[in-house]
Amino acid sequence: MLMSDENRSKDENRSKDKNRYPDEQRDAVYRVIAERRDVRRGFLPDPVPADVLARILAAAHRAPSVGLSQPWDFIVLTDRARRERIAGLARRHRDEYAEDLPAARARAFDRLKIESILDTPVNIVVSCDRTRGGRHTLGRRTQPQTADFSCVLAVANLWLAARAEGLGVGWVSFFDERELAAELRLPPHLEVVAYLCVGYVTEFAPEPELAAAGWARRRPVSWAVHAEEFGRRGLPGEEPVDPLAEVIAAIAPPDQQAIAAAKERQDLMTKPRGSLGQLEDISTKLAGLAGSCPPPLPEPACVAVFAADHGVHAQGVTPWPQEVTAQMVANFLAGGAVVNAFAAQAGAEVTVIDVGVAGDLDNVPGLLPRKIARGTGDFTAGPAMTRDQAVAAITTGIEVARDLVAAGNRCLVTGDMGIANTTASAALICAFTGADPVEATGRGTGIDAATYARKIDVVCRGLARHQPDPADPVGVIAAFGGFEHGALAGFILGAAALRVPVILDGVIAGAAALAAVALAPDAIGACFAGHRSAEPGHTVTLSYLGLRPLVDLGLRLGEGTGAVLALPLVQSAARALRDVATFDSAGVAEKS
Ligand SMILES: Cc1cc2nc3c(=O)[nH]c(=O)nc-3n(C[C@H](O)[C@H](O)[C@H](O)COP(=O)(O)O)c2cc1C
Repeated sequence: MLMSDENRSKDENRSKDKNRYPDEQRDAVYRVIAERRDVRRGFLPDPVPADVLARILAAAHRAPSVGLSQPWDFIVLTDRARRERIAGLARRHRDEYAEDLPAARARAFDRLKIESILDTPVNIVVSCDRTRGGRHTLGRRTQPQTADFSCVLAVANLWLAARAEGLGVGWVSFFDERELAAELRLPPHLEVVAYLCVGYVTEFAPEPELAAAGWARRRPVSWAVHAEEFGRRGLPGEEPVDPLAEVIAAIAPPDQQAIAAAKERQDLMTKPRGSLGQLEDISTKLAGLAGSCPPPLPEPACVAVFAADHGVHAQGVTPWPQEVTAQMVANFLAGGAVVNAFAAQAGAEVTVIDVGVAGDLDNVPGLLPRKIARGTGDFTAGPAMTRDQAVAAITTGIEVARDLVAAGNRCLVTGDMGIANTTASAALICAFTGADPVEATGRGTGIDAATYARKIDVVCRGLARHQPDPADPVGVIAAFGGFEHGALAGFILGAAALRVPVILDGVIAGAAALAAVALAPDAIGACFAGHRSAEPGHTVTLSYLGLRPLVDLGLRLGEGTGAVLALPLVQSAARALRDVATFDSAGVAEKS
């Protein structure tokens, strides 16, 4: 007899119920996942009994593995002398890592404990044999790394089982793998996957230690889940989120209470009223942005240099060949540009984002490859990019801002690179502010009179062709923008939504800020004008945005150089509000 649909569905429900764990057991599974921690502090000297160790190793050994190859081995270490030698290896790599860090990061890193090799009674090394199971291991043929993935799953099982046993586990990866392998006498076909320090602990912290220390933040799960294809972010059962709409909705005005508290505190500080001039406004703005007084120190800081090429280059608006964009990106990554020197001085990190460089770039650390296209189109001949590309550029900027903040940065700094991008900036500035091209167009890197006249003409022709509507910022970016302008606009919006200050560099960042503010007027609350560029369009932009630049040195380099110079000023403004004593607390008499 055929089962009716109704009966079939009842039957299926019964089997679902049968398979599901009772509530209490299910809760325990989620609990152990939530409460597992990487532990580095508070270990007790008590030994781990052999039966407990055996249980967590058996749990590890139950992990799924590619082709059931079980490529792991577990080396259990208790010998003190060997662990001392291993701790020495980790110490050396810790020191080398610290040497590479920008100053603010290095200070924060100094306070972190990154291993507990000797504080724990037992260490467990998980190794991987990529050859186990032979050449026909099911599933490993095209992806040899699935052997390593399998070993990591064994680590995860061990880590969760250990948590349920009340054991803390700390994963140490500050090793040269071959050095460690030699110390463990691993046969050459085995690789070290994980070094785990295991022991009983006084307590388990509710949050990752790195989050509590402010080193990095957790990303919301909604950022990590995509529906059907990458980029359609959203949790199951919810509509896909449009990052731009989400970010615009999250941008709110400054917190008036924090602003009032900052103003009041400025007046109580041991200095004549108003004597810190513009820095008082900066500190007040930082408090309004953070929603707290004093505001958090804007460090560590990261300069994000967005790089892209411009089709309008073909109009002969600059004497520099287009290849210079890619060459300068290589220079930033090698640490040889002015922005690197200034960032090193200010203790900031430099990250380069390829959003549209025409040439190919080597994937090296410090480069985020986010190419939208190989340069834009010539805006005198058609739109520089499609609307979809403009949205993609903005979204990229939003994501870069989010990721840099999640990585622990407390201040974002704009940088840019793109031969011919002052021409695109001039057109954007005219479109958003209504300025005359003669007023908004400058000499960029330095051009002769004929090129300058041509540049103004190019901007005029672009404006005449596209008839931009400033109420449609995405359309304006699509008409004239570089991909770096779109990305910088998103970067500013991302910072504003996270209520993190963003220090703007010169005319390129200014043009992007016009777009950001057109999309979300309250984004201005996160913007700090690092400097006034020598480009006339920048002055137009600053007065339109109502921003007062912190530094005015006649710079016209771009890269983020002017903004980085202003970083210590913004940081000092915050520090003054945090650290300076009040007349009352210091026992200093006020002016009568
Ligand atoms: C592959 C891997 C390597 C890690 N290496 C280190 C390390 O060398 N030192 C350290 O202190 N923590 C290390 N950790 C721990 C992470 O910092 C930690 O898991 C993360 O901050 C999240 O915290 P939680 O594990 O408590 O949730 C490592 C974690 C993983 C997964």
